[in-house]
Amino acid sequence: MSILLIGGSRRKDSLNTKVKHRIAEVADKYGIHYKLLDADALDAPIYHGDYEAAEGVPESMQTLAREIKAASKVVLISPEYNSSVSPLIKNAIDWVSRVESQAWQNKKVLLGAASPGGLGGIRGLMHLRDILGNVQAWTAPNFAICPNANDETIANMDESFLKSFLEQGD
Ligand SMILES: Cc1cc2nc3c(=O)[nH]c(=O)nc-3n(C[C@H](O)[C@H](O)[C@H](O)COP(=O)(O)O)c2cc1C
Repeated sequence: MSILLIGGSRRKDSLNTKVKHRIAEVADKYGIHYKLLDADALDAPIYHGDYEAAEGVPESMQTLAREIKAASKVVLISPEYNSSVSPLIKNAIDWVSRVESQAWQNKKVLLGAASPGGLGGIRGLMHLRDILGNVQAWTAPNFAICPNANDETIANMDESFLKSFLEQGD
């Protein structure tokens, strides 16, 4: 089993995607197995009960649920929008919670964020942690945050901290 690394922004130059890759770089160095998931894998129509009744859970979200179920842990790197969660991630959490396998249940989830702002997106992660608790995931206590994020600050994210971040829940 390997760790599933997911970024929560589909933007081409996403800072959060860059943090995901920085974490992958540290995982490579320490032989920690992982799988990178492109943020496009989170794409689905906004949850709508009538849509679900007519069409069922979108195929993309069933695939995502299988990926989560198969992972030893999930790392979610989420942008913060107006002090809260990325809608891309929230929508994917909602859809996956509608799949019978209940992939979030007891899943170990490690959270991170990047922002050009000084708080690094931590307020969004606190909301994300609450939401994940509601679908009975286990969320790790330490966040991987990059405030004042740019290529340089992301590249300088502390390697030993990121290693211990990834080891949470072992
Ligand atoms: C609608 C909107 C709201 C935002 N709100 C916040 C915020 O509350 N806190 C913050 O640190 N950055 C906020 N930002 C800035 C994002 O952190 C920044 O755009 C970041 O680069 C988005 O992540 P990405 O680079 O991975 O796409 C906001 C951006 C947008 C578009």
